[in-house]
Amino acid sequence: MKILILNGPNLNLLGSREPEVYGHATLDDVESGLRVLGGELGAEIEFMQSNHEGELIDAIHAAAGQFAGAVFNPGAFTHYSYALRDAVASVDMPFVEVHLSNIHAREGFRERSVIAPVCIGQVSGFGVASYQLGLRALVTYLGEG
Ligand code: DQA
Repeated sequence: MKILILNGPNLNLLGSREPEVYGHATLDDVESGLRVLGGELGAEIEFMQSNHEGELIDAIHAAAGQFAGAVFNPGAFTHYSYALRDAVASVDMPFVEVHLSNIHAREGFRERSVIAPVCIGQVSGFGVASYQLGLRALVTYLGEG
């Protein structure tokens, strides 16, 4: 089973970006950890990051029919991108939204996700483990379907 791991803006700076909030692991570290876990779970991982909303939308459209599901950290787009929400809702595949930080325990504007309602669930606040838990949840969901 092929799983897309999608990352939004500023996540390319993981490791150096506000490490007190996001930790010291880089996006490459996240990717390599997920490849190991994917191997254990029988999931083939494709990994992508973009700082551009349109590129993320194009990637979601292109994923339809190619991937069994996606783990998505939309970054700040989480809080206001109706276009990304509509893209997720437009394709017939399950998404799990993930966040390194606990978006419910930070600034007020981060509490709301406009994308989570069109995902099967959200994992937030466990650092890099949020991605791993998200992948496990998605694979479990797909196994039950
Ligand atoms: C984030 C949380 C968002 O609020 C923020 O804009 C990010 C990262 C997280 O993984 O904790 O870029 O999605």
